[in-house]
Amino acid sequence: ELAAIHGLVRGKLKIAAVTTAEYFVPDLLGPFARAYPGIEIELSVENRDRIVQRLSQGLDDLTVMMLPPAELDLDSQAFQTNNLIVIAPANHPLSNKKLRLNELSGERWLMREAGSGTRKVTEQFFAKQQFQPNIMMSLGSNEAIKHAVAAGLGIAVLSDLAVNQPAWSSTTNGLRILDVADFPIVRQWYLVWRRDTPQSATARGFIAYLQQQASG
Ligand code: PGA
Repeated sequence: ELAAIHGLVRGKLKIAAVTTAEYFVPDLLGPFARAYPGIEIELSVENRDRIVQRLSQGLDDLTVMMLPPAELDLDSQAFQTNNLIVIAPANHPLSNKKLRLNELSGERWLMREAGSGTRKVTEQFFAKQQFQPNIMMSLGSNEAIKHAVAAGLGIAVLSDLAVNQPAWSSTTNGLRILDVADFPIVRQWYLVWRRDTPQSATARGFIAYLQQQASG
């Protein structure tokens, strides 16, 4: 609440975010950092497996991720949806058709690296649909996947946050979103923290700040 935020003058706020959250977490931090210039913010960005490791070691005040691990005693707060879509090169022959997933079995798929939450959700979804993708390559970042897709190496599932960047939103960006049944895969972004560790004043302040933003 407001009182908690008013007490905030100086301190450190350590936030960890999975790589896909790098597209929006700085936007959340910006106004907070301007309002509380005495608070030093440290943002770590890594894939889900490494972020889970950081959580289990208690390295951060707050974590932003899509799949909070069940094995840790955590509190979480959902705050935004994450839509996973299928992207193809702009000139892909299927780019203006309504598709079913099994029509994409002959495509070459590009996947995020093992350890990525995006990959985990994609694999779970494919397994549920009994779809066996022809996996051509794994790449270690969303940006590498976008460039590889644009270069015609294959198609991929990515968060729309990674795709709808201004530089990529024009028609010359080399990418198309395919219209595939049951897509987007809709998941949530969560703000996560450990239940067994007392929350820092800065973490409480940031949570209160986000709640204020959400309630307008
Ligand atoms: P990642 O992010 O694919 O960058 O790991 C998604 C998530 O785990 O939330």
